[in-house]
Amino acid sequence: MTSSNALPLQTINDAKHFLTAQFRAAGIDSADIDARLLLMHGAGLTRAELIASAGDALPPDVAELIQGLAARRIKGEPVDNILGYREFYGRRFKVTQDVLSPRPETEMLVKAALDIFKTKPTANMLDLGTGSGAIIISVLAEALNGRGTAIDVSEAALDVARENAKTYKLTNRIEFMRGEWFAPVKDSYDIIISNPPYITQEAMTALAPEVKNFDPPIALSGGEDGLKAYREIISKAKDFLKPGGEIIFEIGFDQTETVSALLTAVGFSGVSTHKDLAGHNRMIRAR
Ligand SMILES: C[S@@+](CC[C@H](N)C(=O)[O-])C[C@H]1O[C@@H](n2cnc3c(N)ncnc32)[C@H](O)[C@@H]1O
Repeated sequence: MTSSNALPLQTINDAKHFLTAQFRAAGIDSADIDARLLLMHGAGLTRAELIASAGDALPPDVAELIQGLAARRIKGEPVDNILGYREFYGRRFKVTQDVLSPRPETEMLVKAALDIFKTKPTANMLDLGTGSGAIIISVLAEALNGRGTAIDVSEAALDVARENAKTYKLTNRIEFMRGEWFAPVKDSYDIIISNPPYITQEAMTALAPEVKNFDPPIALSGGEDGLKAYREIISKAKDFLKPGGEIIFEIGFDQTETVSALLTAVGFSGVSTHKDLAGHNRMIRAR
């Protein structure tokens, strides 16, 4: 029969409970979700199929495969890394160790940009620090007459973003360029959007191992006070915004005042902040 840490070769439901318990014992907060995601991936099932086949036997080869994935999770590898993709704003994005896995709070930026496209359907948008391309791809997949430019300093990240754009048939509406923030940019835009690196030097040393070991430091580190990227972007943003254009940033939960001050200091108006589901200010907009 099974050893204590081997998947029981019984039903999918048994395997789900077994994995959840193992993940919980390993101190994984998202034990339940991770068990479901690894089972779905290993067994090749959608969420609905997983529920419908809860009482089916798990084939031994599939059980073995899932067990291997679970062992990686228990050793601390994030579930996105194991799967190679992450769900964001209802779509699946390829992720690798060269890009930040897009986080749920970043979906607020997508929603904000889509609201602008409702009144300006042919708007163009500049995504600074595109990473996996999750923001610009999510927006332009729904704003069908929009177009945009995506910048990243990392060529490896741009490769991932280009692949994601290809998946969603957006390569003809998004131009990808490598460089530091505005350096490669020639046009001006209705929307500048960015989720820049904003973690302070001190907080970088205290990151959870999952983040520290698997997300690229260049996607996280915002310099000593976490504001380096905001300063660089805000100081030049007005040269690349069309009249009436808007800038939208993700911010750290304690960066509201500092980023607002940077924006107003160079003449931005209508600064507004927006809370995530946990009640923290995580997005800032200005004209
Ligand atoms: C926090 S990640 C955001 C990724 C993606 N936009 C998202 O929201 O999931 C920041 C991104 O900025 C890029 N980046 C860091 N410094 C940069 C710079 N000086 N110029 C352009 N991009 C930069 C990183 O490579 C990374 O992809």
